[in-house]
Amino acid sequence: MKCGFEAAFPGNDFSKVKALPATDPKFGDFQCNDALAGAKVLHLPPRKIAEAVYAKLMESKPAFVDKVELAGPGFLNITVSADWLAAQLAALGAQDTLGIPQTGAGKRVVLDYSSPNAAKQMHIGHIRSTVIGNAIDRIFRALGYNVVADNHLGDWGTQFGILIKGYRELLTQEERDNLSVPYLEKCYVLSAAKAKEEDGVWKEACKAELVKLQQGDPDNLALWKKFIEISINEFNRMYDKLGVKFDTYRGESYYNDTMPGVVARLQEMGLAVESEGALVVNLEEEKLGVAIVRKSDGGYNYTTSDLACVEMRVDEYAPERIIYVTDARQQLHFKQWFNIAGKMGVTAKLVHVPFGLMSYQGKAISTREGNLIKLDELLAEAVRRSKEIVLSRTPDCPNADQLAQAIGYGAVKYSDLSHDPITDIDFSWDKALALEGNSGPYLQYAYARVCSLLDKAAAMEARPAETFAVVEPAEKQLALQLLQFGPTVLRAAENYKPSVLADYLFQTAQLYSSFYQRSPILRSEPDVRDARLALCALFGKVLSKGLSLLGIETPKRI
Ligand code: ARG
Repeated sequence: MKCGFEAAFPGNDFSKVKALPATDPKFGDFQCNDALAGAKVLHLPPRKIAEAVYAKLMESKPAFVDKVELAGPGFLNITVSADWLAAQLAALGAQDTLGIPQTGAGKRVVLDYSSPNAAKQMHIGHIRSTVIGNAIDRIFRALGYNVVADNHLGDWGTQFGILIKGYRELLTQEERDNLSVPYLEKCYVLSAAKAKEEDGVWKEACKAELVKLQQGDPDNLALWKKFIEISINEFNRMYDKLGVKFDTYRGESYYNDTMPGVVARLQEMGLAVESEGALVVNLEEEKLGVAIVRKSDGGYNYTTSDLACVEMRVDEYAPERIIYVTDARQQLHFKQWFNIAGKMGVTAKLVHVPFGLMSYQGKAISTREGNLIKLDELLAEAVRRSKEIVLSRTPDCPNADQLAQAIGYGAVKYSDLSHDPITDIDFSWDKALALEGNSGPYLQYAYARVCSLLDKAAAMEARPAETFAVVEPAEKQLALQLLQFGPTVLRAAENYKPSVLADYLFQTAQLYSSFYQRSPILRSEPDVRDARLALCALFGKVLSKGLSLLGIETPKRI
């Protein structure tokens, strides 16, 4: 497209010119609206610009053009040539990246996600940060970014005084010897209940244990370490199931030693001031309220720890950006400290990706509702239900357990990732496990069906052709869609929305299915058949790669 503009108006910068996929095939395959944007620079009416570009394109007829049409105030509608399309598809299929632009090459990103609080079991509420964060991780890596995935565990705070006291006095020897996250949870519940007793004796004792821990008492420190280690092991058991990996597990405690320095600097810079015994940063001017950076009891808080953390990340990794995936209720927290960090000189781009609430089968998730389902149980249930589906379709399936895991975990992930992160979502088994419609299993089955088609073809000595030939409208729709894979992955990353990719994959599967219904494959003449097989194979590659970026496995046979 650029060539048309450059030929018509030499000496101008048209590097931003691009043709976007047409919204409706009746407007051709691509549409270029840049004549409208060019009007300001070229001081000409958009229609005049479009006419000049159109004339140049007609004159030189670049290889990609089959037809150009002028429309409206200055739109250029392009129908691409069959040869160009075939060459593009071949080029796409030949790359491991399948057209994903390597815009992240040489750039580092720190990604802070999942980050549960220690000594508690992960529950259904932790799915979103884990699954959305992991998809963002995979998408950025696919774009060539060097990603440091850090699990910013909640591993410090008053709960550890309560836990230490409870561990020593409320657990049985047997429980202490076989300490696990459920026992820690039990210990916390019992000890926290006692801390509410009228006389306040237990509460004071818990506080004393916390102070000892903060002062580095070796026994308390050893206990704390043990609690954290057990928690991380338990979290890793979930992450293994979900295919989630972290590069580092630096909890809040990692920043304990640097918080005083950060606060001192905030004071020196005149950013933090005393207010009712606490130290605060006033952000009223930015309409962000007031952020406490040191509490009146001298303790630090979430804001202080995030400020200390960002400085260390910047020093150590010099990242181009840092991405934080948490629930939307933390929006003000992030806005506040991003603002303070900017004033302290942090130049890395700081991005908060907030996600909405999740309800379960139509009901809010809360301890009171009795549906604070453990993540472990949810995943087990997903596998159990998936296994029923697998066995109902293939009673003698030899690897039913393995398939049930791929389908069950895939279903749970996709049911989340198919929604814009910011929306509140409801988890429903029927929707997550539906074999028709926008679901993980539907896409996994679509992939397995292509694989089985290619196997059948191979059995009759038919192979995907090396060159593509796009003839029928349904083939063309699918072909154009496949070319959009790379740009879509980029768009998903730029918007921090794995849902952009999920939507694309679902649409692609639908286009494949209409192509498949309209165009006989194995019954066609060999050259038509093999060209269609090539399109099928490329669809399979794109679907599988796309799902892998969402952390979803694609078994070849289901
Ligand atoms: N532990 C926090 C939570 O459970 C999330 C931490 C997010 N990361 C951060 N750097 N603030 O909600």
